[in-house]
Amino acid sequence: MAQSHLIPEVLVPRLGEYLVQQGHITEEGLRKALSYQRKKQGKDEHWLLGETLLELKLIDRPTLDQAITEQIIQLRNALEDANRSLERRVQDRTAELQLALRKLSELNQLKANFVANISHELRTPLTHVKGYIELLVTETLGSLGEEQKKALQVAQHATTRLESLIDNLILFSQAARGKLTLHLTPVNLNQVATEILNYSNQKALDRNITLSADIKSNLPLVKADEEKLSWVILQLMDNAIKFTPAGGKVGLLIKREADALVRISVADTGIGIPKNRLHELFEPFHQLDSSSTRRYGGTGLGLALVRQILEAHGSVIDVQSEESKGTIFGFTLLVAGKPA
Ligand SMILES: Nc1ncnc2c1ncn2[C@@H]1O[C@H](COP(=O)(O)OP(=O)(O)OP(=O)(O)O)[C@@H](O)[C@H]1O
Ligand SMILES: [Mg+2]
Repeated sequence: MAQSHLIPEVLVPRLGEYLVQQGHITEEGLRKALSYQRKKQGKDEHWLLGETLLELKLIDRPTLDQAITEQIIQLRNALEDANRSLERRVQDRTAELQLALRKLSELNQLKANFVANISHELRTPLTHVKGYIELLVTETLGSLGEEQKKALQVAQHATTRLESLIDNLILFSQAARGKLTLHLTPVNLNQVATEILNYSNQKALDRNITLSADIKSNLPLVKADEEKLSWVILQLMDNAIKFTPAGGKVGLLIKREADALVRISVADTGIGIPKNRLHELFEPFHQLDSSSTRRYGGTGLGLALVRQILEAHGSVIDVQSEESKGTIFGFTLLVAGKPA
């Protein structure tokens, strides 16, 4: 109901009309009183209609009081009705919204279950394909010509990429179903970083990118799920290398920040991200430039998962970027043994 419907004149007739309706005064009497009222108004005297009617002896005090009381009761009842109808509408609308929300979360659940099932189904045949390629490449099943070996190595590379994509999907569906479980242990970051640098080095070399590391030697252990944390840093390194043109630089920096925190950041001198699009980075299956899918590859899942994994660690990812200059992604982790 529109708010204007709640003004008293609409809910109950005005006093003058009511008195006429009830036969306490005549229309003629009302006109007389209103004209008297206006005259007084002209002299800057503000007379209420009741007072005017009494003054002109068009009504007696008990009848007037009775009529006013009746009007107040009518007004109160009308307001109560209006309130009740408003409450009913709010209740109906809330129920509709709750239903829509339930349907939406059911759909989300279905999507997550679908992704989970399909990913597991994809993994089984892939394991076979991978295993047989491995047997062929290592010449366990017989010797190969150079050409055949090269072709199989390409196939092997492709299956590795497919496997990591499927793993990402599985992780994503776990996160979407709230089933991302962490195995928190004290983690040695120097060790993790060395492994990551070894792994990223080849990629950086292939793309003519200089990789640097600034990792303090006496870092404390941090409280984290080691496998997932390595995965997170690898994603950031992968992105940094992927979105930096040849000749650029990528750096991994790990340092103690305050007493209880260690900060991990990955900086690049790459293409950067426009300020107004920073918020899009963490949406699943989303890439800033869809043409970059072809140019750079990927599904747009990496950062969405990075955020979810870090959130599960009680951490948040932050990003600073300047277009055509570069980007820094960073987050902090709690030192093991320190209270959260
Ligand atoms: N270091 C970076 N510099 C510039 N843009 C970046 C950087 N990291 C991420 N982006 C942008 O954010 C998008 C999302 O990143 P995300 O890691 O989620 O997906 P992806 O790398 O495209 O695919 P995936 O990680 O699934 O292989 C990227 O497509 C890219 O547009
Ligand atoms: Mg990525």
